[in-house]
Amino acid sequence: MTHIPSTTRGAPEHVAIIMDGNGRWAGRRGLPRTEGHRRGIEPARMVVRYCAEHGVKVLTLFAFSSENWKRPQAEVGTLMDLFIRSMSKEVPDLIEKGIRLNFIGERQAFSQKLQKAMAKAEADTADNQRMDLFVAVGYGGRWDITQAALSLAEDIAAGRVEAANVTPEHLRKHISTAAMPDPDLLIRTGGEQRISNFLLWQMAYTELYFTPILWPDMQSADMDQAFEFFASRSRRFGHIDEQLNRQERA
Ligand code: IPE
Ligand code: IPE
Ligand code: MG
Repeated sequence: MTHIPSTTRGAPEHVAIIMDGNGRWAGRRGLPRTEGHRRGIEPARMVVRYCAEHGVKVLTLFAFSSENWKRPQAEVGTLMDLFIRSMSKEVPDLIEKGIRLNFIGERQAFSQKLQKAMAKAEADTADNQRMDLFVAVGYGGRWDITQAALSLAEDIAAGRVEAANVTPEHLRKHISTAAMPDPDLLIRTGGEQRISNFLLWQMAYTELYFTPILWPDMQSADMDQAFEFFASRSRRFGHIDEQLNRQERA
């Protein structure tokens, strides 16, 4: 019998979050958008702690998309400052909590200083094993699939893979989260019900949870709700319920 991936029950293994709504949070208070980004750091800290405590193995946070480069220069600049500052501040805590930090996205677009800080934070946390934290910066799902296709094309050109035998598995191996299971649960705050070029390949069977809460207002009780939603889903992966029930009884 083919293996049917675990059907829910309990905590999701991989949680992905689109942290949206910072600008609107600030706008409603008559504050500059950048203040919303500043206030978005605490909820990011909270979800890292929450997921680690709930046995989540992988947490992926969407911090800056490939399209966010199009925002006004001053806003992009503030976001870069925030990334650098929070990285040096948070790393000791991540080490203490046993969390391994990884960045996914097109790094070359960032300043040398930021690229170095990212590499250092990854090296400093590389031995941690409790949870993997992926921070997606300069990330786009289409970029990810494109860079994977380029790597696969190199494999083909070098004779390591034969074009006629290519399967989705060959491409999957080059996707930036290849070593990780696909996300079980996506949470998007801010009320929009779209993917905005996040993990396009990886979210083929992800359960999608949308909430109107603006990211700076996100609380652990909202995470409870998202996890309850997840636990109530019946994940069939193309099978029919009866097949899943049979596996559960076995
Ligand atoms: C998410 O909040 C943070 C980033 C995209 C960097 P936004 O800045 O998109 O906030 P809204 O959606 O405009 O409220
Ligand atoms: C998605 O939010 C990207 C991040 C949260 C980092 P956006 O605010 O950029 O998405 P759109 O523009 O509303 O689709
Ligand atoms: Mg937004």
